Amino acid sequence: MSEAEPLVGGHTAPVVRVGDTVRRVAGPWTPAVASLMTGLRRAGVAGVPAHLGLDDDGREVVAWVDGEVPVYPLPSWAWSDQVLLDVARATRAVHDAAVGLDLPRTGWRRPAVEPVETVCHGDLAPYNAVFQDGRLVGLIDWDYAVPGPRLWDLGYLAYRFISLTPPGHRDGRPGSGPPAEQWRRVALLCEAYGGVEAVEVVRWAALRLEDLIAYSYAEAAAGNAALQYTIDQGHVRLYEGDLEWVRGLLHADDPTRWGR
Ligand SMILES: Nc1ncnc2c1ncn2[C@@H]1O[C@H](COP(=O)(O)OP(=O)(O)OP(=O)(O)O)[C@@H](O)[C@H]1O
Ligand SMILES: [Mg+2]
Repeated sequence: MSEAEPLVGGHTAPVVRVGDTVRRVAGPWTPAVASLMTGLRRAGVAGVPAHLGLDDDGREVVAWVDGEVPVYPLPSWAWSDQVLLDVARATRAVHDAAVGLDLPRTGWRRPAVEPVETVCHGDLAPYNAVFQDGRLVGLIDWDYAVPGPRLWDLGYLAYRFISLTPPGHRDGRPGSGPPAEQWRRVALLCEAYGGVEAVEVVRWAALRLEDLIAYSYAEAAAGNAALQYTIDQGHVRLYEGDLEWVRGLLHADDPTRWGR
């Protein structure tokens, strides 16, 4: 295939496939992201696509990863415990390897998040993961990579992959309404990643949602059409409801403890 083929997703900016590569609009953060991806590959981390620099049009070129990228509403296999375990272990490998890389503190899309422990992927969600036969084979879309605490990634991946959403949520895991089932999967995630507390992961899920809501409104107000689109589509309203749900998971016995 030599023609450029537009890809589903790419809400942030157009993404096209050209042969065995993906072309994406580059940004000021691209050099930092490229050095992270290259460093992780050199360190032997599986599932990180090769970053191949910029093309003649100034777009970044990333190797194509063969497989399936699930989109909402997710297919049932994407909600398996196996997927959660695979993503948790892959995230651990990324975080552990990134600690040893010589990477810049600035130049990322978002400011570093304290306490910096490693470099996070920044957007760990089913739509940024590639699978073959229900097993994880790649993590894509590294644009939101940022130095930060491990929990920055774990909170968001918990929200997306578990999912930490109320019953009947349009993008949630079917039948996962009961908090006990969500906590079971948080425990599974913690065990697979290792060395993290379930309550901390859920606390960071709330922090990530707060950040996502604030970031979406701020970017839209500054003229970012992609973020305005997510607001118009009702995604940010959903995040606001989800944030209340996650706070409820944390303090079901005393909702006033998580006040602002
Ligand atoms: N390296 C890759 N290998 C295989 N598929 C890819 C790759 N990069 C992107 N894609 C496909 O293109 C879609 C959009 O790419 P990407 O996620 O990088 O863009 P985006 O603008 O951040 O999109 P979104 O905001 O929807 O996450 C992905 O969901 C995936 O289906
Ligand atoms: Mg994406």
